[in-house]
Amino acid sequence: MSVHKEIKKVTTHTLQEMKSRGEKISMLTAYDFSMAKIIDDAGIDVILVGDSASNVMAGNETTVTITLEQMIFHGTWVVKAVNRALVVVDMPFGSYQGNSKIALQSAIRLMKEAGAHAVKMEGGSEILESVKRLVDSGIPVMGHLGLTPQSIYKFGTYTVRAKKEEEADKLRKDAILLQEAGCFSIVLEKIPSALATEVSQSLDIPVIGIGAGSGCDGQVLVMHDLLGINNQFNPRFLRKYLNLYDDIKGAVESYIKDVKSVDFPNENEQY
Ligand code: KIV
Repeated sequence: MSVHKEIKKVTTHTLQEMKSRGEKISMLTAYDFSMAKIIDDAGIDVILVGDSASNVMAGNETTVTITLEQMIFHGTWVVKAVNRALVVVDMPFGSYQGNSKIALQSAIRLMKEAGAHAVKMEGGSEILESVKRLVDSGIPVMGHLGLTPQSIYKFGTYTVRAKKEEEADKLRKDAILLQEAGCFSIVLEKIPSALATEVSQSLDIPVIGIGAGSGCDGQVLVMHDLLGINNQFNPRFLRKYLNLYDDIKGAVESYIKDVKSVDFPNENEQY
């Protein structure tokens, strides 16, 4: 008899079943071992090793600069910590846009070197061939439509996408194409909630929203945003569950004060 408690791992099939029975899917980002362990222990369904690591971990202005090697680093740390959640790793800009062969090579590195369970790619009709090639090779792919931050220099801003009918129509078509190409799920970022609800209802695969309203099959947030680590980032869609910027700053200020006044360490805090 095994002394280890059996943990039922979340798979792409689990997510499909959740959609079928109307159970919402929870997803958060993580980029390191310690945070991934807490999030997994808390019972999250999906952990995304997002290329938002470029912003929140490395302090870059965009996600464009993060490399495949850096995504592999972050992915390795997260996968090591996780017992239950499905771990999806972002394909960074430049690692798949060239052609489907390059996309497959990059995805294989994320699966083999980082131990990813699935990968995520931004775009619709433009990346279909790559999606199909990965899926045919046994790699689960999550799509990403709406605001796609890797194209920030094309869009020019991070404002709500697909408000105009032409763009909304392309998004509807792209979502169907991604589903037909074999994506197991799609992220919809920062689009009108009515459109996100319509797409979620029209697709068989689960749709995970960020800034896309409550009609999606699940929600994703960047962990650092949920924790309120950046006090300058306050978009309407974000619910901050903590204000860690203030808490951490306050703790550090107290520590500095205690060190300077020789209050720390006291006699119980030394040998
Ligand atoms: O990189 C990321 O964190 C993402 C989420 C915003 C969906 O792609």
